[in-house]
Amino acid sequence: LHPPLIAPSVLSANFARMAEEVAAVEKGGADWLHLDVMDGHFVPNLTFGAPLIKALRGDSKLPFDVHLMIEPVDPFLEMFAKAGADHIHVHIEAGPHVHRSLQTIRALGKKAGIAICPATPASAIAHVLDLVDIILVMTVNPGFGGQRFIESQLSKIRELRAMAEASGRDIRIGVDGGIDVETTPRATAAGADMLVAGTAIYGQSDYARAMNALREASRP
Ligand code: DX5
Ligand code: ZN
Repeated sequence: LHPPLIAPSVLSANFARMAEEVAAVEKGGADWLHLDVMDGHFVPNLTFGAPLIKALRGDSKLPFDVHLMIEPVDPFLEMFAKAGADHIHVHIEAGPHVHRSLQTIRALGKKAGIAICPATPASAIAHVLDLVDIILVMTVNPGFGGQRFIESQLSKIRELRAMAEASGRDIRIGVDGGIDVETTPRATAAGADMLVAGTAIYGQSDYARAMNALREASRP
């Protein structure tokens, strides 16, 4: 297992100062930048689209980890790739042909991620493991920051870690939702090696310190 990567989610940042908020976590030691795209249809909230990602791209060297909570997703993949996404996550629940979406992401030269909601069993993504670089385990129901970590997802993380190892491929397992210094040790012990955190970073006054605290909490 790799040491966990930290991916601050700008969903909890100050949207009026987005470029500064990105620069602050970049300077503070973030590994990736997590960008939550919501469509008010797949999830009951709206955020931003490719134009904001494109606008931020010029000022940041961080890998952009783009989490698409949109349905349909296929018509927009190229747009997000062109805007500067490095990783594109699509939801297994976002349609019957996610296998094709993942192939498209790879053909666009980007890392492919599969996101999985709390209600969906690990087995649902078995058929796409050969296409993914990252599994994003939702530890809340997607749509909002600041929700409570759903403990029942820990056994799913363990199951997915075993499936990832058995695949023989180098697959990161990210956790997204309710990640803080309390929940991090359980998530990483279960096999997560990427931590998305919104509130636990942007809700603090010192982002570097908040990220260090998460890293510290992830150590066995
Ligand atoms: C929720 C988003 C998350 C969100 C997490 O649908 O996918 O990335 O920003 O926020 P926290 O860390 O506050 O739970
Ligand atoms: Zn997310």
